[in-house]
Amino acid sequence: MADQSGNKDAKSFATDIPVATDGYFLKGSCHYDWGMQDRLSRIFRPDTGKTVMLAFDHGYIMGPTSGLERMDLQVVPLAEHCDVLMCTRGALRTCIPPTFNKPVCLRVSAGATILRELSDELVGVAIDDAIRCNASAMAVQVYVGAEYEHKSIGNLCKVADTGMRHGIPTLGVTAVGKEMARDSRYLGLATRLLGELGAQFVKTYYCEPGFDKVAAGCPVPIVIAGGKKLPEIEALTMAYKAIDQGASGVDMGRNIFQADNPIAMLKAVMSIVHEGAKAEEALDMYNTLKNE
Ligand code: R5P
Repeated sequence: MADQSGNKDAKSFATDIPVATDGYFLKGSCHYDWGMQDRLSRIFRPDTGKTVMLAFDHGYIMGPTSGLERMDLQVVPLAEHCDVLMCTRGALRTCIPPTFNKPVCLRVSAGATILRELSDELVGVAIDDAIRCNASAMAVQVYVGAEYEHKSIGNLCKVADTGMRHGIPTLGVTAVGKEMARDSRYLGLATRLLGELGAQFVKTYYCEPGFDKVAAGCPVPIVIAGGKKLPEIEALTMAYKAIDQGASGVDMGRNIFQADNPIAMLKAVMSIVHEGAKAEEALDMYNTLKNE
C-alpha cells in the first residue's frame, strides 16, 4: 500500500535524457492510438517490420478451392508457421483452434461469388463479431474501376471508420477485375487511393516494371497477394522482388497451400520476408525441407 512518509526519495529522472519521441516502426502509422499500433505490431513483426500472412479466405467467393477442401486438415498444420491468419469468420470458428494465439485478419467484405459480378460486395460482418473473433485487422475488397467501384469504396470507408473507433486496422484489398491490367499505373492508382481513404495497410499484386513506384506512392505498408499457383521458384522470386522493391510482406494463399509441401513453402517465404534470403536460397531451403 502507498505510504505517505518514510519513502525513498525519487531520483531517477534522467533529466539529461529526453523522452524518445521516435516514430513508430511502421510506415504511415506513427500517429495512431495505442490499440491500433498494438494490433499493427501483431500483424507486422516489430523486429523486421514485415509480415507473412497466410490467406485462406478464398472459399467466400470460390467455394472449396484446391488445397482448402478440408481446412481442418490442410490449414491447421500451417497455422503455427505464419505470422497472421487471414480468413472468414466461418473458417476461423469451424476449423481453427483458438489456441494458436496468432493474429487474425478477418475478411469482412462479402456478397459476391464467382458466379456473378464480383465487385457487388457489402460489409458482411458486424464490428462486434469482429471483436468477438479477436480480429487484429479487417479486410475489405475494393474494386477500383469495376462496375460497383463506388459501393466497394464505400465499404472500405465504413469499415475504416468503425475500425478507427475500436482501434482495429483495416486492410484494403485491391481486387483486380478481369478487364483490368495489373500494371503499375493501375495498381499505383488503386493502392494510393485505399491508403488515402483510410486503410492502415493495403494488399495488392506484384507487377513489373514499376512495383517500386507503386510501393513508394502508397502512404501505408503494402503486402502482396500471390495469385494463381506458380512454380515454386517463380513464386519465391516474386516474393523476393516485392520485398526488395518496398513491400512490407506477403499475404499469400494458393502458392502456399497448393505447393507440394505447404509447410516448406511457408518457411521458404518466411526466410525471404524476415531474413532477406534470395529466391534461390529460399528454393534450396524448400527442397531440403520437402525431401526431409
Ligand atoms: C481472394 O479471394 C483473397 O483475397 C485472397 O486472400 C488473395 O487473393 C490472396 O490469395 P492468393 O495468394 O491465393 O492470391
